[in-house]
Amino acid sequence: MLTNAQTRDVQSVLHPYTNLMKLRETGALVIERGEGVRVYDARGKDYIEAMAGLWSTALGWGENVLAEVAAEQMRKLSFGHLFAGKSHEPAIALAEKLKEISPFPVGRVFFANSGSEANDSQIKFHWYAANARGETARKKIISRKRAYHGVTIASASLTGLPGNHRSFDLPLSFAVHAECPHFYHAGQAGESEEEFSVRMVADLEALIAREGADTIAAMIVEPIMGAGGVILPPKGYFAALTKVLARHRIPLIDDEVITGFGRTGEWFGCTAYGFMPDSMSIAKAMSSAYLPISAVMLSPEMSEIIEEESGRIGTFGHGFTYSGHPVAAAVALKTIEIYQERDIVSHVRRVMPAFAKRVMTFADHPLVGEAVVAGLVGAVELSPDKKARANFDAAKGVGAMVARFAEEEGVIVRPLMGDRIAFCPPLVIAETDIAELFDRFERALNRGLDWVKKERLLAG
Ligand SMILES: Cc1ncc(COP(=O)(O)O)c(C=O)c1O
Repeated sequence: MLTNAQTRDVQSVLHPYTNLMKLRETGALVIERGEGVRVYDARGKDYIEAMAGLWSTALGWGENVLAEVAAEQMRKLSFGHLFAGKSHEPAIALAEKLKEISPFPVGRVFFANSGSEANDSQIKFHWYAANARGETARKKIISRKRAYHGVTIASASLTGLPGNHRSFDLPLSFAVHAECPHFYHAGQAGESEEEFSVRMVADLEALIAREGADTIAAMIVEPIMGAGGVILPPKGYFAALTKVLARHRIPLIDDEVITGFGRTGEWFGCTAYGFMPDSMSIAKAMSSAYLPISAVMLSPEMSEIIEEESGRIGTFGHGFTYSGHPVAAAVALKTIEIYQERDIVSHVRRVMPAFAKRVMTFADHPLVGEAVVAGLVGAVELSPDKKARANFDAAKGVGAMVARFAEEEGVIVRPLMGDRIAFCPPLVIAETDIAELFDRFERALNRGLDWVKKERLLAG
């Protein structure tokens, strides 16, 4: 029986990433409030939010300082824009702060409202810059299978997940997808992780040769592939990849929408994996998801060439009404100041061994094939046959079932492609809550094991 709120919900709300037919039977989990790393439903049941919402609320819920900053800014200047020679202090101060903490040299910062908008803007900026350099054939963007870069038409084309393309007539042809460097599944017998990286990057170079380096405007990467299943880069991968891109003069776009602001135990994922991009997309933890805001940070060289081109043709004809919205900008600035004042990166480093220990313990669980962890993000892949590294038939919905058991046990996790269950809690999580989170999840996993046995889904 659906509650009154659940009935009203299915009659009116079109839910993202949902089997809308099934939702009519199960109803949505209607969340009422949040405090710290926990959210509460209407009956007052608490859930540890092991996904920080959508990999986003790094400071957790109920951060009063941010509410106050938003209210104050709303009273002072509720709206202001950056079009046609206008500006305001929150946008200027935020751009300066981002340049200060950026791991690569930045000229100018462009503001948008979501990760998708940031990545759509990236594509246009790299086309604009290539045209300005007279390299008018550079139109293709290389992405990777299982990448996630958003859902607007262009960013969804970069996304390498079938669920984002099927029935949407995507991807558009400018997007070229390289192989996904997932060692666990794609590594060959006897191949080391380093050898696997060399092979993946050789495949990439062959793809560049096939397409023609002078037709490629950029390559986009997530340091850790998030929505594609928390896939960590194999050892040596980024060092080899950046060499190949430099050789072919292909700019690198770093999508730090999940990895930015401390998730890996470094301020940015590119530092954790030792590479430098030409431009970077950030969102989510940029404002701890208290308000929608994202940004594209551009190298001095790209900033200059875009500036020159706007002079030549008369305008930089791009921007959103809410680019650098003063209230969102003020909240983002305060969020980053809080990260600095409370030294959030050191906190992550302090608690990440406890987090890693619990995630990696699941590698021995009979239902788990692979367990991975980096900083405060991790995942387990459910498998009917550990030895064969097999996957369950997707139609059986094993990952979704385990996530449902987890919800009943009081922990919110996210089932991703190939029955991988992701963990990405608020960065402020304490060790006691990490223990509680994984105690609850372990009970759910054991219930999942009983269920797959009952359904006869295990191999042998
Ligand atoms: C790496 C990455 N890029 C881009 C996006 C898209 O962001 P948004 O949902 O804000 O459009 C996401 C969202 O999860 C993401 O994880």
